[in-house]
Amino acid sequence: MIPWSKLSQLSLKVGLSSLMVLALWGCTQGNSPSVPKNEASPGAGKATPKAEATTESEATPEMEATSEVSPTAAGAGAKTGWTAKEKAILKTLMLASLPTPEPDPSNAFADNPKAAALGKKLFFDERLSINGKVSCATCHKLELSFTDGLSLSHGVGVTERNAPTIIGNAYSPWMFLDGRKDSVWAQALGPLESAVEHGGSRTQYAHLLAANYKPAYEAIFGKFPDLSDAKRFPPKAGPVEDKEAKAAWDKMPAEDQETINRIFANMGKAIAAAERPVVPLTATFDTYVAAVLAGDSETMAKVYTPDQEAGLRVYIGKGKCLGCHTGPLFTNNTFHNIGVQKMIPHAGMKAMEGTPMPELAIDDGRASGVGKVLADEFNCLGKYSDAKNPEACKVKALEASKALTATMLEQFRTTTLRNIAETAPYMHDGKMQTLEEVVEHYDLGFKGNPLTPPLGLTKEEKAQLVAFMKTLSGPIAGDLTAAKEPIP
Ligand code: HEC
Ligand code: HEC
Repeated sequence: MIPWSKLSQLSLKVGLSSLMVLALWGCTQGNSPSVPKNEASPGAGKATPKAEATTESEATPEMEATSEVSPTAAGAGAKTGWTAKEKAILKTLMLASLPTPEPDPSNAFADNPKAAALGKKLFFDERLSINGKVSCATCHKLELSFTDGLSLSHGVGVTERNAPTIIGNAYSPWMFLDGRKDSVWAQALGPLESAVEHGGSRTQYAHLLAANYKPAYEAIFGKFPDLSDAKRFPPKAGPVEDKEAKAAWDKMPAEDQETINRIFANMGKAIAAAERPVVPLTATFDTYVAAVLAGDSETMAKVYTPDQEAGLRVYIGKGKCLGCHTGPLFTNNTFHNIGVQKMIPHAGMKAMEGTPMPELAIDDGRASGVGKVLADEFNCLGKYSDAKNPEACKVKALEASKALTATMLEQFRTTTLRNIAETAPYMHDGKMQTLEEVVEHYDLGFKGNPLTPPLGLTKEEKAQLVAFMKTLSGPIAGDLTAAKEPIP
């Protein structure tokens, strides 16, 4: 993070240097065979041979396909019917094309129903916080498709990023908008220790589990360690911002720290098991595409207005959205700089009331995320991972990308567009309040990225694109969406 005060000098420097490096990299190294294979593609179901740093300069197969979309597609209004090529593209986007998620080698309990049941309780338990008022559901609310409706989230303090949905995250190789976690379970441990989210500490949570969840825990993970010696296991201790808790943690012998870490990791694994089945269910879009593929023009006309259909044509054609928002979850799950930060500060941020705002800063995104995930004690290669073979850990291949982080400045993970109408405000910093604003942003284009040229959309096309995106909303699967259970 770079403080605001230095922004004016730095934005120029950063913009230029990252552009130059990017250009150089694209020209000289783009197809280098030494480049690590570190991106999983959810649609394909296996790793794609693509290094992170090259994402901006490579055309995806979908993009090539879109160049053959009939030129009459966007804006013609009267256009009816879809070409075979277009149908093939639509098919890649429909929910029926979503495979089952890849197993998580680092979490042996990812598909364990008992772990999911425990994880669901933990997700809603507000006692898992320093003030007894914050749970995961505080910021990931069911009724807002697992977001919170705020530009920046409110936990015990204000976060520095907007809360994304958790829908479909079992398909994402990297967690958080900067990819600083490599699994859903390791992700869940972050907010629990963040000073502005749950604000608590590892031993606090371990004691809470001992007192309230012991039988459920033991049925999954085996005997719960004896934490009754308060000298060895203080009520508040962990590697956190809080000085007292940190000092208490540093005093604990490594062996006792490890005992706590294992309980903490298991909490994450249970929460991850609850999140894993949270996937989108059939939206209007999927019904429409099924009808297109079946040649059922009656249903097509019934479920889609002409504007929504025209918007879909813009999406796969003139709008160039398939450069990044691909597959049934509408994300390639890789990292891109789309120029969001050229607009800070913004009205949404100023409008926040309540707790003090975090220091506004340029967020360097993936450039910092790479180092963080490599250093994370809870990553797939760490002591608390269940992965038997380090080669199964994508974070291993990431080591080779470390030297390339200069090309990753201000890159964020492409967000899913499923249920997008429900998850405003938008972007990592929540600066865009409406889908209309998002479309304006893409229409202007961002020079720093060859995948985001100015689009030259008409007023009508912009409205159609928004109308289309609203057809991506639908119900959500997974027990987390069912009624909240009583806390033990
Ligand atoms: C105070 C609000 C807040 C709380 C509480 C909170 N989150 Fe989040 N969550 C966020 C924000 C903000 C982000 C984005 C942060 C980032 O990318 O750096 C996020 C990101 C995530 C992501 C990553 C999604 C993605 O697309 O990468 C998941 C999954 C998630 N949270 C799950 C949880 C779980 C599980 C808990 C409880 C253990 C939790 N969150 C608690 C605000 C919150
Ligand atoms: C170069 C890749 C790329 C292209 C092309 C692209 N996007 Fe995005 N999109 C992203 C990334 C990355 C983010 C997240 C940025 C952030 O959080 O700052 C995003 C975010 C969004 C969001 C906000 C999601 C949220 O939950 O906050 C919407 C809506 C969106 N894009 C729609 C579109 C549409 C519509 C198009 C085509 C006009 C498009 N995108 C083209 C990469 C891309």
